[in-house]
Amino acid sequence: MKIIAFLGSPREGGNTELILKETIRGIEESVSGSIVQVFNLNLMNISPCQNCGGCDETGVCVYEDDMTQIYDAIRSADRIILASPIFFFALSAQVKVMIDRCQAFWCEKYLLKKPIPEGLYKRKGLLLLVGGQKKEIGIQCAEASAKAFFRTVSVPEHKTLSYMSIDSKGAILDHPTALKEAYEAGKALITI
Ligand SMILES: Cc1cc2nc3c(=O)[nH]c(=O)nc-3n(C[C@H](O)[C@H](O)[C@H](O)COP(=O)(O)O)c2cc1C
Repeated sequence: MKIIAFLGSPREGGNTELILKETIRGIEESVSGSIVQVFNLNLMNISPCQNCGGCDETGVCVYEDDMTQIYDAIRSADRIILASPIFFFALSAQVKVMIDRCQAFWCEKYLLKKPIPEGLYKRKGLLLLVGGQKKEIGIQCAEASAKAFFRTVSVPEHKTLSYMSIDSKGAILDHPTALKEAYEAGKALITI
Protein backbone atom coordinates (compact mmCIF):
# COMPACT_ATOMS: atom_id res chain seq x y z
CA MET A 1 0.00 0.00 0.00
CA LYS A 2 1.43 3.35 -0.99
CA ILE A 3 0.91 6.15 1.53
CA ILE A 4 1.88 9.76 0.97
CA ALA A 5 1.63 12.79 3.24
CA PHE A 6 1.79 16.52 2.63
CA LEU A 7 3.21 18.66 5.41
CA GLY A 8 1.89 22.17 4.93
CA SER A 9 3.43 24.08 7.82
CA PRO A 10 6.57 26.16 7.41
CA ARG A 11 7.30 25.87 11.16
CA GLU A 12 9.84 23.13 11.71
CA GLY A 13 8.84 21.01 14.69
CA GLY A 14 5.52 22.85 14.81
CA ASN A 15 2.10 21.53 15.74
CA THR A 16 1.20 20.25 12.29
CA GLU A 17 4.46 18.35 12.01
CA LEU A 18 4.06 16.86 15.49
CA ILE A 19 0.57 15.59 14.83
CA LEU A 20 1.53 14.27 11.40
CA LYS A 21 4.45 12.38 12.97
CA GLU A 22 2.06 10.64 15.36
CA THR A 23 -0.15 9.60 12.47
CA ILE A 24 2.85 8.23 10.64
CA ARG A 25 3.96 6.39 13.78
CA GLY A 26 0.49 4.79 13.93
CA ILE A 27 0.84 3.64 10.34
CA GLU A 28 4.42 2.42 10.49
CA GLU A 29 3.93 0.55 13.77
CA SER A 30 0.83 -1.22 12.41
CA VAL A 31 2.39 -2.68 9.32
CA SER A 32 6.07 -3.48 9.57
CA GLY A 33 8.00 -2.25 6.60
CA SER A 34 5.41 0.34 5.65
CA ILE A 35 6.92 3.72 4.88
CA VAL A 36 5.08 6.98 4.43
CA GLN A 37 6.50 9.29 1.79
CA VAL A 38 6.34 12.82 3.19
CA PHE A 39 6.41 15.93 1.04
CA ASN A 40 7.49 18.95 3.06
CA LEU A 41 5.79 21.50 0.86
CA ASN A 42 7.60 24.48 2.35
CA LEU A 43 10.89 23.12 1.06
CA MET A 44 9.67 22.41 -2.43
CA ASN A 45 9.77 24.47 -5.56
CA ILE A 46 6.14 24.68 -6.68
CA SER A 47 4.91 27.57 -8.80
CA PRO A 48 1.31 28.74 -8.51
CA CYS A 49 -1.16 27.66 -11.22
CA GLN A 50 -1.23 30.21 -14.04
CA ASN A 51 -4.66 29.16 -15.38
CA CYS A 52 -2.98 28.99 -18.79
CA GLY A 53 -5.29 26.25 -20.04
CA GLY A 54 -2.28 24.14 -20.93
CA CYS A 55 -3.73 21.09 -19.16
CA ASP A 56 -7.27 21.42 -20.57
CA GLU A 57 -6.85 18.98 -23.41
CA THR A 58 -4.13 16.76 -21.99
CA GLY A 59 -4.56 16.68 -18.21
CA VAL A 60 -0.84 17.39 -18.02
CA CYS A 61 0.62 20.59 -16.57
CA VAL A 62 2.97 22.38 -18.92
CA TYR A 63 5.23 23.54 -16.09
CA GLU A 64 8.08 21.44 -14.80
CA ASP A 65 8.99 21.88 -11.17
CA ASP A 66 8.66 19.79 -8.02
CA MET A 67 5.00 19.13 -8.83
CA THR A 68 6.21 16.55 -11.32
CA GLN A 69 7.12 14.16 -8.51
CA ILE A 70 3.92 15.03 -6.63
CA TYR A 71 1.72 14.27 -9.66
CA ASP A 72 3.28 10.81 -9.89
CA ALA A 73 2.92 10.22 -6.15
CA ILE A 74 -0.73 11.31 -6.04
CA ARG A 75 -1.58 9.15 -9.04
CA SER A 76 -0.16 5.99 -7.50
CA ALA A 77 -1.10 6.58 -3.84
CA ASP A 78 -3.58 4.43 -1.96
CA ARG A 79 -3.71 6.80 1.00
CA ILE A 80 -3.19 10.57 1.05
CA ILE A 81 -2.65 12.59 4.22
CA LEU A 82 -2.97 16.36 4.07
CA ALA A 83 -1.68 18.22 7.14
CA SER A 84 -2.00 21.99 7.40
CA PRO A 85 -2.09 24.79 9.92
CA ILE A 86 -4.94 27.28 9.58
CA PHE A 87 -3.66 30.53 8.14
CA PHE A 88 -6.17 33.37 7.70
CA PHE A 89 -9.15 31.01 7.97
CA ALA A 90 -7.76 28.68 5.31
CA LEU A 91 -5.21 26.04 4.37
CA SER A 92 -1.64 27.35 4.36
CA ALA A 93 -0.32 28.82 1.13
CA GLN A 94 2.14 25.94 0.90
CA VAL A 95 -0.77 23.50 0.68
CA LYS A 96 -2.94 25.69 -1.49
CA VAL A 97 -0.32 26.19 -4.17
CA MET A 98 0.03 22.42 -4.47
CA ILE A 99 -3.74 21.93 -4.59
CA ASP A 100 -4.19 24.56 -7.30
CA ARG A 101 -1.69 22.76 -9.48
CA CYS A 102 -4.00 19.72 -9.25
CA GLN A 103 -6.15 21.53 -11.79
CA ALA A 104 -4.37 19.18 -14.21
CA PHE A 105 -6.08 16.24 -12.45
CA TRP A 106 -9.38 18.16 -12.55
CA CYS A 107 -9.09 18.43 -16.35
CA GLU A 108 -8.17 14.80 -16.64
CA LYS A 109 -11.13 13.72 -14.51
CA TYR A 110 -13.89 16.09 -15.60
CA LEU A 111 -12.95 17.19 -19.11
CA LEU A 112 -11.20 14.08 -20.38
CA LYS A 113 -13.38 11.74 -18.26
CA LYS A 114 -10.39 9.81 -17.01
CA PRO A 115 -10.46 9.75 -13.20
CA ILE A 116 -7.51 8.22 -11.36
CA PRO A 117 -8.35 4.50 -10.89
CA GLU A 118 -9.23 3.45 -7.35
CA GLY A 119 -6.41 0.90 -7.16
CA LEU A 120 -6.28 -2.28 -5.10
CA TYR A 121 -7.20 -0.77 -1.74
CA LYS A 122 -9.64 2.03 -2.67
CA ARG A 123 -8.22 5.48 -2.19
CA LYS A 124 -8.71 7.09 1.21
CA GLY A 125 -7.60 10.36 2.78
CA LEU A 126 -6.89 11.94 6.12
CA LEU A 127 -7.01 15.66 6.80
CA LEU A 128 -5.11 17.05 9.81
CA LEU A 129 -5.77 20.69 10.75
CA VAL A 130 -4.37 22.80 13.56
CA GLY A 131 -5.43 26.38 14.33
CA GLY A 132 -4.52 28.91 16.96
CA GLN A 133 -7.94 30.47 17.39
CA LYS A 134 -11.10 29.13 18.98
CA LYS A 135 -13.22 30.04 15.94
CA GLU A 136 -14.23 27.06 13.81
CA ILE A 137 -14.57 29.06 10.59
CA GLY A 138 -10.94 28.41 9.65
CA ILE A 139 -11.56 24.68 9.88
CA GLN A 140 -14.71 24.95 7.75
CA CYS A 141 -12.96 26.92 5.01
CA ALA A 142 -9.87 24.71 5.02
CA GLU A 143 -11.93 21.56 4.96
CA ALA A 144 -13.98 22.80 2.00
CA SER A 145 -10.77 23.30 0.00
CA ALA A 146 -9.36 19.97 1.09
CA LYS A 147 -12.57 18.19 0.10
CA ALA A 148 -12.36 19.71 -3.38
CA PHE A 149 -8.78 18.45 -3.58
CA PHE A 150 -9.68 14.93 -2.46
CA ARG A 151 -12.60 14.80 -4.91
CA THR A 152 -10.39 15.98 -7.76
CA VAL A 153 -7.73 13.36 -7.13
CA SER A 154 -10.39 10.65 -6.77
CA VAL A 155 -10.18 10.11 -3.04
CA PRO A 156 -13.87 9.59 -2.27
CA GLU A 157 -13.55 9.10 1.46
CA HIS A 158 -11.59 10.98 4.10
CA LYS A 159 -11.53 11.60 7.85
CA THR A 160 -10.77 14.97 9.39
CA LEU A 161 -9.00 15.61 12.69
CA SER A 162 -8.93 19.26 13.68
CA TYR A 163 -7.60 21.00 16.75
CA MET A 164 -8.24 24.61 17.66
CA SER A 165 -6.70 26.93 20.28
CA ILE A 166 -3.32 25.38 19.50
CA ASP A 167 -1.04 28.30 18.79
CA SER A 168 2.45 28.31 20.25
CA LYS A 169 5.05 25.92 18.88
CA GLY A 170 4.56 22.51 20.47
CA ALA A 171 1.23 23.39 22.14
CA ILE A 172 -0.33 20.29 20.59
CA LEU A 173 1.80 18.21 22.98
CA ASP A 174 -0.35 19.46 25.88
CA HIS A 175 -3.64 18.61 24.20
CA PRO A 176 -5.37 15.80 26.13
CA THR A 177 -6.30 13.64 23.13
CA ALA A 178 -4.77 14.98 19.89
CA LEU A 179 -1.66 12.82 19.65
CA LYS A 180 -3.46 9.63 20.60
CA GLU A 181 -6.23 10.37 18.09
CA ALA A 182 -3.67 11.07 15.39
CA TYR A 183 -1.90 7.80 16.14
CA GLU A 184 -5.19 5.88 16.02
CA ALA A 185 -6.21 7.65 12.81
CA GLY A 186 -2.97 6.48 11.25
CA LYS A 187 -3.69 2.90 12.20
CA ALA A 188 -7.27 3.14 10.96
CA LEU A 189 -6.24 4.72 7.68
CA ILE A 190 -4.49 1.61 6.46
CA THR A 191 -7.11 -0.92 7.45
CA ILE A 192 -8.77 -2.15 4.31
C1 LIG B 1 0.10 33.79 8.90
C2 LIG B 1 -0.69 33.13 10.00
C3 LIG B 1 -2.06 33.18 9.96
C4 LIG B 1 -2.82 32.53 10.93
N1 LIG B 1 -4.18 32.56 10.84
C5 LIG B 1 -4.92 31.82 11.69
C6 LIG B 1 -6.35 31.75 11.55
O1 LIG B 1 -6.96 32.38 10.68
N2 LIG B 1 -7.06 30.95 12.38
C7 LIG B 1 -6.43 30.24 13.37
O2 LIG B 1 -7.12 29.49 14.08
N3 LIG B 1 -5.09 30.31 13.56
C8 LIG B 1 -4.32 31.08 12.74
N4 LIG B 1 -2.95 31.12 12.88
C9 LIG B 1 -2.31 30.35 13.98
C10 LIG B 1 -1.77 28.99 13.52
O3 LIG B 1 -2.78 28.23 12.90
C11 LIG B 1 -1.25 28.24 14.73
O4 LIG B 1 -0.18 28.94 15.31
C12 LIG B 1 -0.84 26.81 14.43
O5 LIG B 1 -0.59 26.14 15.65
C13 LIG B 1 0.40 26.77 13.57
O6 LIG B 1 0.74 25.43 13.32
P1 LIG B 1 2.28 25.02 13.07
O7 LIG B 1 2.98 25.09 14.39
O8 LIG B 1 2.21 23.65 12.53
O9 LIG B 1 2.80 25.96 12.05
C14 LIG B 1 -2.17 31.82 11.98
C15 LIG B 1 -0.76 31.81 12.03
C16 LIG B 1 -0.03 32.45 11.06
C17 LIG B 1 1.48 32.41 11.11
